[in-house]
Amino acid sequence: MLLANRNAVIHGAGGALGSATAHAFARAGARVFLAGRTGAKVTAVADAIRAAGGLAEGAQVDALDSEAVERHADAVARQAGRIDIALNAVGLAHVQGTPLADLSLADFEFPVATAVRTNFITAKAAARHMAPQGSGVILTLSTPGARLPGPGYLGNCVASAAIEAMSRHLAGELGSQGVRVVCIRPHAIPQAAAAGSHTREVFGPMAERAGLTIDRMLAGAADGTLLKRLPTLDQFANTAVFLASDHAGAITGTVANLSCGFLVD
Ligand SMILES: NC(=O)c1ccc[n+]([C@@H]2O[C@H](COP(=O)([O-])OP(=O)(O)OC[C@H]3O[C@@H](n4cnc5c(N)ncnc54)[C@H](OP(=O)(O)O)[C@@H]3O)[C@@H](O)[C@H]2O)c1
Repeated sequence: MLLANRNAVIHGAGGALGSATAHAFARAGARVFLAGRTGAKVTAVADAIRAAGGLAEGAQVDALDSEAVERHADAVARQAGRIDIALNAVGLAHVQGTPLADLSLADFEFPVATAVRTNFITAKAAARHMAPQGSGVILTLSTPGARLPGPGYLGNCVASAAIEAMSRHLAGELGSQGVRVVCIRPHAIPQAAAAGSHTREVFGPMAERAGLTIDRMLAGAADGTLLKRLPTLDQFANTAVFLASDHAGAITGTVANLSCGFLVD
């Protein structure tokens, strides 16, 4: 099993991508420590993983609260002995589809400030344990917005670009201590929206303005990719398993582009 004997911390583990990755990590043999804002959601994911034979524990942790995240990391390290993998899958609804002239400073700043803050907090808490042990993998998440000219998603664009820049910088800072940092950049995942992701709240008003349903809008997005489809939750989660594993031991400081060819380097 690719992640046998690994301990993984996942923030935002009650969400669509966080919970899918938690299941995939556990199936690959990892012991998963799930953290999220809503305790009941995290507990439900941990219960489902244990019912399927995996090792999982859940905790209510606000990933914007540095002391709470540090306390959780310390508790995991005490209990499990080490932290091998950390994934930040936190997501928050924010404004997209509003042109600059109508965009408030608050709506622009919100996704940038929250994404940068939570990724700083969770990466620092994980690195504090990984660096002394000389190994570890930190996974972050961005969106294709990081590379697109818009219009209409300035906050998401800057937030996603910032996460990719942070990941690159952290890879540079932590590489000599044996810690890899990789950002995963998936295109919109229809199953996540269907599972109740905040992306439904983000896409809803945009689809409405275009006179489309969310499903129709996502079908249009699929048509815009080279593969004429969008990524699945399984493809995302299994990529995270691979990147967290020793098979990806030579990969750091880069972005895994899961855009089905929407973005081509
Ligand atoms: N879904 C996609 O198609 C897609 C594509 C590309 C990138 N991404 C990125 O992937 C990440 C996750 O997306 P998702 O679709 O899985 O979103 P999601 O289903 O809405 O899940 C996000 C999770 O983050 C949790 N959260 C929010 N604020 C938190 C806080 N302060 N502390 C701890 N947890 C907090 C939420 O908790 P609650 O349960 O309490 O609300 C929720 O469980 C986002 O950063 C998003 O930009 C998603």
